[in-house]
Amino acid sequence: MYPGQAQHRPTVEAVKYKSRNSIRALPKCTTPSRHASDQESDLRVAPERTSDYVPTMRIAIASDHAALDMKAALHEWLVEKGHEVADLGPDGPESVDYPDYGFKLASVVADGTAMRGIALCGSGLGISMAVNRNPKCRCAMVSEPTSARLAREHNDANVIAMGARLIGIEQAKACVQTFLETGYADADDPAGRHQRRVDKLAHPPTTESA
Ligand code: RB5
Repeated sequence: MYPGQAQHRPTVEAVKYKSRNSIRALPKCTTPSRHASDQESDLRVAPERTSDYVPTMRIAIASDHAALDMKAALHEWLVEKGHEVADLGPDGPESVDYPDYGFKLASVVADGTAMRGIALCGSGLGISMAVNRNPKCRCAMVSEPTSARLAREHNDANVIAMGARLIGIEQAKACVQTFLETGYADADDPAGRHQRRVDKLAHPPTTESA
């Protein structure tokens, strides 16, 4: 637990969870919450060094062929930190279509099987668009830790996307670290301004009401 974080434990509701070639029964996860320590200075620069300790989480990661190496490196690093990581593929270097993997990732985040998702492609753009087609996913395309922090504090992002052809592995790790350790500013305030806006994201206007 980090300071101020509500304790989170997976619920016991078992769900079928497809990881690589196996289907495992795993409990769903609840989302950890933490008030931002300083909600007023919204755009302050993220600290260069973040805490080394982040509570363990169940994380799903997926990519296309352009981000295979970054996926493997992040997967290994996250497991070393004690996280449970489901690699949703692809498993080999053949060219694949990022929407297929973005949709797969989105579904396990949307149904609560994974608490957080990491989506990777060459630019991060295509796969972030795919994930965001799922109304239960809020995927932020990031390339530096400040965006990762703001995506959690203001937008309650549950997925981040990064471009393996645009940033290096150390920068990607810094983004993931910040993404995982930052709480949602309105986690305990359903009437908060961020929550009001996040709620609206799940209900875009229809063509009639737009
Ligand atoms: C694949 O060449 C590339 O288009 C893809 O990884 C991604 O950058 C798309 O948004």
